[in-house]
Amino acid sequence: MATKINQWLDERTAWHKVWEVIFLRKIPKVNWFYTLGSASLFVALNQAITGILLTIYYVPTPDHAYDSVQYITTQVPLGWLIRGLHHWGASALIILVVLHMLRVIIFGAYKYPREVTWFTGVFLLLVVIGFGFTGYLLPWDQKAFWATTVGTRIAGTPPLIGDYLLRIIRGGPEITAVTLVRFFGTHVWVLPSLLLILIGIHLYLIIRNGISAKPKRGK
Ligand code: HEM
Repeated sequence: MATKINQWLDERTAWHKVWEVIFLRKIPKVNWFYTLGSASLFVALNQAITGILLTIYYVPTPDHAYDSVQYITTQVPLGWLIRGLHHWGASALIILVVLHMLRVIIFGAYKYPREVTWFTGVFLLLVVIGFGFTGYLLPWDQKAFWATTVGTRIAGTPPLIGDYLLRIIRGGPEITAVTLVRFFGTHVWVLPSLLLILIGIHLYLIIRNGISAKPKRGK
């Protein structure tokens, strides 16, 4: 029965071929450093799932943001775990992505024909940092408020465009409800969309070009 369903589906979708290309492709002999990209992918997935669950209770307004986070942590069943996974996952993701990038640099894996994979990686790094920056404000406590005050002030320091940049990021001269909603929208819609597109291209290119082999002495 299962074989028949499988055959019926494969005839119409060729899913077996897709599975083969993605999961059964040949890779050169590598080492543990090559697992850092997959580890980043795994934590990114954790962030997506726990992030979606957090939005069920989180309220992005100055009146309710702090209380909703406290409610998640102390009242919602397993809320502390979901929040904890998202909180620590954020730091883990940044560390893993940076280590992954260092592996790529040290092994020279950014060279021909993987330059475009590298470019998408650079944007991925910026997106991951963007997640950290926008997510930090969301608990709306003192630490969040003042960290964002400092962070946005730094963005306001370049000559000519600084003030303009600061107002765009804050949604006005001060940090207000507009800033909170702007950061929330960016954190849950803009950045995840970008992340999805960039990871899609990144993984396509990794499969298209194959994973680079360990560099040998003198090459
Ligand atoms: C969310 C962030 C990222 C994810 C999920 C991700 C995922 C992956 C995965 C699964 C691989 C294949 C396995 C491996 O080499 O570890 C890979 C390879 C690669 N990544 Fe990333 N990556 C990310 C960020 C970056 C960054 C920041 C850079 C560089 C700026 C980068 C550049 C590359 C390159 C050049 C390769 C090809 C390496 C090779 O063929 O040996 N990636 N990435």
